[in-house]
Amino acid sequence: ANDKPLFGRHLVITAGGTKEPIDPVRYLTNRSSGKMGYALAEAALAAGAKVTLVAAAKRDCSTAINLVIAPSAKEMLFAVEEAMKKADGFIGAAAVSDFALAAPFDQKVKKQGDGHLTLDLVQNPDILKTVGQNKKPGQAVIGFAAETQDLLANAQKKLAAKQADMIVANDVTAPQAGFDKDSNQVTLIQENQAPITIGPKAKSAIAKDVIEQVVTILDHQ
Ligand code: C5P
Repeated sequence: ANDKPLFGRHLVITAGGTKEPIDPVRYLTNRSSGKMGYALAEAALAAGAKVTLVAAAKRDCSTAINLVIAPSAKEMLFAVEEAMKKADGFIGAAAVSDFALAAPFDQKVKKQGDGHLTLDLVQNPDILKTVGQNKKPGQAVIGFAAETQDLLANAQKKLAAKQADMIVANDVTAPQAGFDKDSNQVTLIQENQAPITIGPKAKSAIAKDVIEQVVTILDHQ
């Protein structure tokens, strides 16, 4: 068997919860740890791929992974678009903040006299959707869908809305799945294919299965 099925391929993977600056010392973020994205990067590397991991925060990983730290959604989009110029596939495993401050404060915000502070938020770019729209022939685009209800229906909608080849749907309320856990349970959704549920098992094992599907998708492009 071919143990390096991604040899000669370049994958771009995102990881972690983005950090949207409020002021020089504060940011908005979410519960994502980045563990799933880092596990995917290791699995892709083990399968022989060249890997660019665009992560919101640094974690330990193989030195062979090209790690790019991009804390905010805008920084992440910029790094991803740059890397996608020479890539065969994208896996968006990051939990990208849907909102950022319209104008982050230049100085640390002080306590307010009247006890109220209002932050003006604007919608962030959708990285996965942008990559899906700009997909070149031969490129594979894979997204995640963290859901707390109607997992399959919502994931199916995302497959179309983001022009993705596969959605890894993740019920983040399942006991052995979701944010900051070492295990996960996911359902792989592709067009005209029966959903495949994998886990609960270690994120590293889930990552291996996801990468195996990515190999199949790339081989059929
Ligand atoms: O639309 P929703 O956020 O549920 O979709 C999740 C998928 O979209 C994930 O793959 C996530 O990385 C990606 N996403 C993104 N940019 C955003 C929001 C989500 O790339 N601003």
